[in-house]
Amino acid sequence: MNKKTFRSSKWFGPKDKDGFLKRSWLRNRGVPDEYFDGRPVIGICNTYSELTPCNAHFRDLAERVKRGVYEAGGYPLEFPVMSLGESVMKPSPMLFRNLVSMDVEESIRANPIDGVVLMVGCDKTTPALVMGAASVDLPSIVVSGGPMLNGRFKGRTLGSGTDVWRFGEDVKAGRMSTDDLFAAESGMHRSAGSCMTMGTASSMACMVEAMGLALPGNGSAPAPDAERNMIAQMAGRRIVDLVKEDVKISRILTREAFENAIRTTAAIGGSTNAVIHLIAIARRLGVPLDLSDWDKFGRDIPTVVNLMPAGEYLMEDFHYAGGLQAVNKALLARELLHGDHVTVNGRTVTGNCAEAENYNEDVIRPMDKALTDDGGIAVLRGNLAPDGCVLKPSAASPDLMKHKGKAVVFESIEDYHDRIDAPDLDVDKNSILVLKGCGPKGYPGMPEVGNMSLPAKLLKEGVVDMVRISDARMSGTAYGTVILHVAPEAAVGGPLAFIENGDQIELDVDARKLDLLVSDEELDRRRAAWTPPPPRMETGYQRLYHDHVEQADKGADWGILSGVRGSEVPRDSH
Ligand code: FES
Repeated sequence: MNKKTFRSSKWFGPKDKDGFLKRSWLRNRGVPDEYFDGRPVIGICNTYSELTPCNAHFRDLAERVKRGVYEAGGYPLEFPVMSLGESVMKPSPMLFRNLVSMDVEESIRANPIDGVVLMVGCDKTTPALVMGAASVDLPSIVVSGGPMLNGRFKGRTLGSGTDVWRFGEDVKAGRMSTDDLFAAESGMHRSAGSCMTMGTASSMACMVEAMGLALPGNGSAPAPDAERNMIAQMAGRRIVDLVKEDVKISRILTREAFENAIRTTAAIGGSTNAVIHLIAIARRLGVPLDLSDWDKFGRDIPTVVNLMPAGEYLMEDFHYAGGLQAVNKALLARELLHGDHVTVNGRTVTGNCAEAENYNEDVIRPMDKALTDDGGIAVLRGNLAPDGCVLKPSAASPDLMKHKGKAVVFESIEDYHDRIDAPDLDVDKNSILVLKGCGPKGYPGMPEVGNMSLPAKLLKEGVVDMVRISDARMSGTAYGTVILHVAPEAAVGGPLAFIENGDQIELDVDARKLDLLVSDEELDRRRAAWTPPPPRMETGYQRLYHDHVEQADKGADWGILSGVRGSEVPRDSH
């Protein structure tokens, strides 16, 4: 029987000058002959960076992946791509998600890689790497870095992100001293790993597991737990098999996979950012997926995972309660998942959950004792957001889900910071805070500022939540009655641009409606007087981003990046 040849053979196979060029330089690290015998070459795409604290343990984790690749008879080659540290990058790591996806795509295609392990952790690293790999369409597996251990401070548990927002408001309201705020810093983040709340990193780690692109346990095993190393090693073994079986990423990321992911997002109380990222990934693969699918498949799915920001516990608790497999088993029992969808380990979703158990029904609630019955992400439309916007009901206040109030408008994030705590700000607890200019083009990069901190004077009165509307995103760790991703955004002349102080806005989450109660004639008058803001930068990458980025309902990807471009290298220089 003829031996199967892989893509990398085009580089390493020829017994001539061309093969010499490709092999000889790699031999400078002492590579034995047999590594060039036609075995699968596995790229390990690593987002390690000391500037991305959540991914700073990835050197060790990559060694575990390599061990698995060697064990299965592959040849691993690790390569870096730009990393995205949510906690430190300015103006917003989202500005660079598409750039990293290009880095990943071109790095995979240009090199002798037959299959790839994507090492991800901090928020944007997951979608960026999956988007890039999707556009190449080779066999791929995701290995997430895992969440940090639970935060601890003065005898209580701290959730990364979630408690930062809470502390910020407590300090403003005079309930917490700045000394305590500083003292809490080292208690919040105690180990390697990503945010241990059900923020965007955890949501995306669960999403890739739900879609079948990662091994069971990937969604929740804590970074310092030995199981995380084992997952990495097993992924290294498995990717070699996927190459031999020619299971491309497009065979895994089918429409059914996305539907499963939407339902799982609802059940775990996942981040609103998952909406944008999943749509962007789907568009890379040509899988039809839009905002309305989030309502269609996520509505009425109970949120059963009792984790911050919607609930009380953290990822460590979730993992030891049974993790995503326990949640999926409960969803499967109600026929809410495509159980026969095949995942990267060769088993179906049903097969992966067969032995799952729920070990703590306070952390993973039974369906009939859910945190909220209407989980998922509510997609709202109306004359304020013709192309849609989103709200996470599980993180919002039930008494604000139907609300009418007058707009208090901030024209930019700078305007918001200048005036939000001014004693003479004309605002009360029924007002609706409106922030413009924070969409994909406007900021640019759609930062996580939608969960605007409330005015200090209302916090001091004991107000804990208000309706907030913007074209921005919010951190998956944040909470509140926050309406996000308004499309079209203000910077391209969406109706958000024309809201004025004192306008009445009406929200009805049950009816999925968000309306500006201003007549069409008046809106036309305001539109005619409006001029689009110029790009914040005239040249460089930010200008490129501004010119190509699409709106939030399209995943905020660049239009020219949609689709699969494949793994063929059009030309060879030597
Ligand atoms: Fe990296 Fe939250 S800052 S996951």
